Amino acid sequence: MTRPEPHIDVRPITEADIPDWCRALNTGFLRTPGVAETEIADRASYIVPARTLGAFDAGRCVATFRSFAQELTTVGGTPVPADAISNVTVTPTHRRRGLLTRMMAHDLTAAKDRGDVVATLIAAEYPIYGRYGFGPATWTAQWTVDIPRTGLDSRWSGPEDGGRIDIVDPADVRKIGPELYERVRRAQPGAIDRDERWWQVNTGVLHLDRSPWTEPFFAVHRSADGEVDGLVSYKADDHWSDTKQPLNTATVNWLIAATPDAERALWRYLCSIDWIKTVQTGWRAPDDLLPHYLPDPRAARVTTLADWLWVRILDVVRALEARTYDGQGTLVLEVVDGAGLAGGRYRLEASPDGASCTPTTATAELVLDVADLARLWLGDESAVRLAALGLVREERAGAARVADALLRTSRRPWCPDMF
Ligand SMILES: CC(C)(COP(=O)(O)OP(=O)(O)OC[C@H]1O[C@@H](n2cnc3c(N)ncnc32)[C@H](O)[C@@H]1OP(=O)(O)O)[C@@H](O)C(=O)NCCC(=O)NCCS
Repeated sequence: MTRPEPHIDVRPITEADIPDWCRALNTGFLRTPGVAETEIADRASYIVPARTLGAFDAGRCVATFRSFAQELTTVGGTPVPADAISNVTVTPTHRRRGLLTRMMAHDLTAAKDRGDVVATLIAAEYPIYGRYGFGPATWTAQWTVDIPRTGLDSRWSGPEDGGRIDIVDPADVRKIGPELYERVRRAQPGAIDRDERWWQVNTGVLHLDRSPWTEPFFAVHRSADGEVDGLVSYKADDHWSDTKQPLNTATVNWLIAATPDAERALWRYLCSIDWIKTVQTGWRAPDDLLPHYLPDPRAARVTTLADWLWVRILDVVRALEARTYDGQGTLVLEVVDGAGLAGGRYRLEASPDGASCTPTTATAELVLDVADLARLWLGDESAVRLAALGLVREERAGAARVADALLRTSRRPWCPDMF
């Protein structure tokens, strides 16, 4: 049972709190609690103390919470300002006393006041965040590809359409990666921005003692007219059978592509590397095309299918007006929000030319929790499914089908990154 502990002070940290805050963070994430000077210096270089919360009991930090500014791409490509939440921990001695609830209330109120349209996070465990109005808005999948089974022609020697693939160095990736990723994420609903630090961490400029850096391979795809349109980071293990047969696995750290041709070429490349018998795809969109690039799609076995980016809508009007709609129609939604941040009745009038969402007193057609609106918002979930689950209620027969016709998208949203 949650018991309130008013004597525990929940507040933004100061620079002086960072070492203690890092210790609490490591403790909550079951990492060795000791904090190296380099870790303190690294954290101090990017955290915003005003948006970094700690809970303090008799002066000792016993809970951590951090948020930062993020851009989240909506359906149609418009980015909205998001309050990205990370580093959430409560020390095991202080769990289930309402500390997360207090930190979350503090942060979401500030995000709403700041004008963020949504809050986002990647949930460690499914049951934690629904109570705060978050719903899983994107999903992710991983595949293990059994190369000998794919049926791919092993004589492949590179793209046949005039494109080319080259191995590049980390310094090249820092030059070409950010611009390519900007193109990719602006066309990918559910994607978030990557800052300079992301590229530094992922190319070995910045590495912390607790996660030693091993340089991966990087390969770039250029189209026939020489434009960089795909990039992959992967590593390979060293595994041979007793009979001297190579049984190596290539594991993709990340793969981004601005065109289907580039994406297909990079997967084809990974599936053609001598010695590699298995490709682990890493986190992909759940409707990734990879299996269908293979003559035998069953050679790609789904090993993970899970919720990924959780969204908490803070501003229903801006969230629904920021995205695009392929269909045309109107819908009156009653959004229930126990925290009082985004609830109300809204009339959505949508068409391929644009949308308006306005508070209304008209009769509600569909009643749903703000967390379930988040599941529908990026087009991934079906209101008909949620109605069958008893999570949305039709006040007008057929309203869930109308919601699906307006909100669902032909491709699923995807967030390529963890934060
Ligand atoms: C998850 C965690 C932050 C929760 O913190 P906490 O301070 O114990 O949470 P609260 O006391 O505010 O809990 C509020 C409610 O959520 C429930 N809850 C919290 N964590 C939960 C979990 N992991 N699973 C199921 N329910 C959970 C509580 O039971 C409580 O329910 P109630 O109001 O019905 O009594 C903490 O357990 C933790 O640090 N876990 C390990 C690290 C982790 O998973 N961090 C999240 C990273 S995304």
